[in-house]
Amino acid sequence: MDWGMRNRLARMFPGGENGNAVMLAVDHGYFMGPTHHLEDARATIAPLLPYADAVALTRGILRTSVPSTSATPVMLRVSGGATVLKEDLSHETITTAMRDAARLNVCGVALSVFVGAPHEHESLVNLSKLVDEGEEAGIPVMAITAVGKELEKRDARYLALACRVSAELGAHLVKTYYCDGFEKVVEGCPVPLVVAGGPKLDSDRAALELAHSAIAKGAHGIDMGRNIWQSDHPVAMLKALRAIVHEKATVAEAMDVLGSAKGRAPAAASARA
Ligand code: 5RP
Repeated sequence: MDWGMRNRLARMFPGGENGNAVMLAVDHGYFMGPTHHLEDARATIAPLLPYADAVALTRGILRTSVPSTSATPVMLRVSGGATVLKEDLSHETITTAMRDAARLNVCGVALSVFVGAPHEHESLVNLSKLVDEGEEAGIPVMAITAVGKELEKRDARYLALACRVSAELGAHLVKTYYCDGFEKVVEGCPVPLVVAGGPKLDSDRAALELAHSAIAKGAHGIDMGRNIWQSDHPVAMLKALRAIVHEKATVAEAMDVLGSAKGRAPAAASARA
């Protein structure tokens, strides 16, 4: 792996090669439109940015809603082409060129892969081509094992297959979902895995439990959205998640972090400083 690729990965995974990352996912609008609490992306993202090891978004939201002075590494979503108005979300293509990703100074590019879906073949070919381009540019590629509208697909057998296929085709990182038997997903995937949160859970505690279980079973971090910015206390939630991902906090300890952070206004100092 060349220096540029290693440097970009290290910026997102501050603990080094075996480190973990807290990524903030705010890319939902690319197929869902103005998602609840992300209508004004700039306002939602601003207080969270200092506490994220990376922010995952599209070039449109990056250019319009993130200050160019931001020090937070960017994981740029580069796939799209379908919306929730259509039944088949798998009909995606690469929507952003690698040269634009390089121009935006990103630390990684991400695309969805739809294993078992009508456009499985296209999404896997997209991944392979993107990896070729990423290797050339020194930009890591994250495959997202998307399930479209079929949330029930999030079981270990399916996700282990989708993650392994993504790694075999050269993905440097894979984002997937937590599931029962998650250790099987980790075991079969030779590159680092980060987990999404999925739709908002019943409580902040449930989201912290999900993150804790994922890390305990071998995930290298989270790439979470709705369970952070749809929480009543997004900054406190992100701080509590950081405690789990970076400090091996228990759920009870993370709840304490959440409780004490709720009372405080977001600190001006950067968590990345
Ligand atoms: C949208 C995505 C999201 O980034 C991913 O699902 C993580 O967000 P959430 O935690 O809200 O599920 O890939 O397509």
